[in-house]
Amino acid sequence: MKQNNYVSLKFVRKDPSGENDKLVFLNQTKLPLEENYIETDNYERVAEAIEKLEIRGAPLIGIAAAYALALSVKTANENFAEKFYTAHKRLIETRPTAVNLFFALKTMKDFFEENKDSTNLYETLLGKAKDIHKEDEEFCRKIGRNGLAIFKTKAAILTHCNTGKLATGGDGTAFSVIKNAFENELVKFVYADETRPLLQGSRLTAFELEKCGIPFALLSDSSAAFLMKQNKVDLVITGADRIALNGDSANKIGTYNLALLSYHHNIPFYIAAPSTTIDRTIATGDEINIEYRDKSELLSFYDKQITSPGYDAFTPAFDITPSHLITGIITEEGVFNFPYNFTR
Ligand code: MRU
Repeated sequence: MKQNNYVSLKFVRKDPSGENDKLVFLNQTKLPLEENYIETDNYERVAEAIEKLEIRGAPLIGIAAAYALALSVKTANENFAEKFYTAHKRLIETRPTAVNLFFALKTMKDFFEENKDSTNLYETLLGKAKDIHKEDEEFCRKIGRNGLAIFKTKAAILTHCNTGKLATGGDGTAFSVIKNAFENELVKFVYADETRPLLQGSRLTAFELEKCGIPFALLSDSSAAFLMKQNKVDLVITGADRIALNGDSANKIGTYNLALLSYHHNIPFYIAAPSTTIDRTIATGDEINIEYRDKSELLSFYDKQITSPGYDAFTPAFDITPSHLITGIITEEGVFNFPYNFTR
């Protein structure tokens, strides 16, 4: 039974003592066929959820990790630092590409170090995790508002992966632009790439488009050139997992293909992301650590073996789009255009 409203992740206080506090998250691996919420107060369960992509999307994994760090000291009476740093070490190793994870973990670690003598460390850390969550919600709202500037007429949009409420603390990044533009009658139709191999497009973006009443069709990742050739795409908008100072952007594998196709067909290609996705320590995309997934994700489809388990496979989860192919980067601060010179 589908619920009308859904949340990707929320913190729930069940009674004033805080003893039964839970982080509640939607298990994204089951969507859209099952809407299963999981409750936990165990940081290890959150780390597992990030690894298994039950919780995913660059901003959301940062938010989840921040709550997980607060939970790591929830029942502690002593050895707070040991518990906190053990959890921090575990969470930092969950996924390597989205910089939002590292940004949130560093923010929490700096905050822990400033407040380690607090009389109620759990509540103090929880407050900071909630701030990170709220800030992302606000960034999403501003990205949606700023994104209206890229629309000249009512547009047909192509998007890739999932960038909505399921990936962030608010309405999304690219998805927030699409949703806000749709509400302002600036969107005709959305084409959602299926996004092989884990189908974030056909499972998650489709789920969110349906919930928002936005007309859409799915397409296989290999159909984009043919669709563009027929003049059926006015704009391409995707999210990002890490952006270098020169604007090179890592996003879900297949994004670079779309940027090249957009360039060839003279279609504007935009990235939407909060400023927390900009890695201020790296000059170009060459320095981005790309996650490689288990080859079973290509050799099987869910539990069904579809080719020989002995075959080798090329399994990057992300690619890097060079900045000259990106027409604009939409953040909560505004729309930036090539050449990009984000500051350290
Ligand atoms: O592997 P995933 O599903 O976590 O990858 C997510 C993406 O690539 C999104 O496009 C990106 O995080 C931007 S979402 C706001």
